[in-house]
Amino acid sequence: MAETSSVRITCTAPVNIAIIKYWGKRDEELILPLNSSLSISLHQDQLKSTTTAVASPAFSEDKLWLNGQEKSVQESRLQALLHEVRRRAAKRPLEDVQREEEVVESVNSEHRLAPPSWHVHISSKNNFPTGAGLASSASGYACLAFTLAQLFGVRGELSGIARRGSGSACRSMYGGVVRWTHGEQADGADSIAVQVIPESYWPELRVFILVVSDLQKAVSSSEGMRRSVATSRLLQHRATVLVPELLRKAEAAVKAHDFPAFSQLAMCDSNQLHAICLDTHPPIFYLNDTSRQIMRLVHAYNQACAEIRAGYTFDAGPNAFVLTTARDASKLLGLIAHFFPPQTSNSKRYIRGLPLTTDPPSLELQCALGFEPQPNALHYILCTRPGPGPQCIFDNEAHLLNIDGLPGN
Ligand code: DP6
Repeated sequence: MAETSSVRITCTAPVNIAIIKYWGKRDEELILPLNSSLSISLHQDQLKSTTTAVASPAFSEDKLWLNGQEKSVQESRLQALLHEVRRRAAKRPLEDVQREEEVVESVNSEHRLAPPSWHVHISSKNNFPTGAGLASSASGYACLAFTLAQLFGVRGELSGIARRGSGSACRSMYGGVVRWTHGEQADGADSIAVQVIPESYWPELRVFILVVSDLQKAVSSSEGMRRSVATSRLLQHRATVLVPELLRKAEAAVKAHDFPAFSQLAMCDSNQLHAICLDTHPPIFYLNDTSRQIMRLVHAYNQACAEIRAGYTFDAGPNAFVLTTARDASKLLGLIAHFFPPQTSNSKRYIRGLPLTTDPPSLELQCALGFEPQPNALHYILCTRPGPGPQCIFDNEAHLLNIDGLPGN
């Protein structure tokens, strides 16, 4: 290193929503899945994690702050991720590191590379409410893996580092539509994410996140899939027989901009995941009455349009991810807001994210759908679209830690 002062970097990473779900591990420690999966990385203008990492020879230990609160760094997945990034950094030939440092330094004088032996202080936060049940571990671990890789100068395939934090995190290492290939090797070297298409390929795609009011604490995904692997015979059939075909068809639909086929596959796969949860012993219930009403609304809307113009998918919780295209966005949003109206006190911030108008549904459509509005069933609706993968932020105001590695910038 040219000098031994601190090195600091800040990066962001997206949330992703699975279209073909990952459910079940073949190796708990390395986080290797039983089946491949496919997801859309959502736009960071609406949902993102931000991480600052500072490394210094003066630090005596690693430290972590999550959403401003100091946390222990002893958590096993965090340790596995830190260990993996340092292991890869230590393997780089010295000449490579020196050559790259010169390049990096000429672009940004603050950002040099840290040697893997230095301790790090890490701070991470989300721009969305953590309590809302939106998966934050995927964007959080992806952001951590990406930031540490920049800090220590690890290049090349990075999704295998993010995977050590949380399986779905490896898909947040790319933008657009991303596949996580289950891989064959016992050490997980080929269990990595790849970009299927960039976000610019299908700019018309829209995603509405319907944040469902629910106070119940769900079974975590890790625990849920552990239970399904142990008890569900449907899961084995899905992983080996059904997913390969679903995945092939879903990728073909994406590449052909075929929204009806794509959203049909998304709905089938989501329902299959929740069928497996029901086939698990004891069964796991992630969906609630509102989730099921949303499903009915989407099907009724498609029927009224005589075409699939909307789809849905649910992860391990009751929140709905409704898929549509720019052409139908205002009409569908108007319909959702009509059937799931806000509390009057909550009406201002009820629809968030992309600025969209809401077209009130015609009386004809209201009658065709044939069910009653459900007030207060949703906290809010967040409108978003596919977006890019992790990014470095070269803006001093964005740092979550100062150059001494303490909260502030
Ligand atoms: C239903 O990635 O959270 O969202 O690997 O144990 O951390 P771990 O699980 P996680 O599981 C995500 C499950 C899912 C489907 C998906 O994202 O593919």
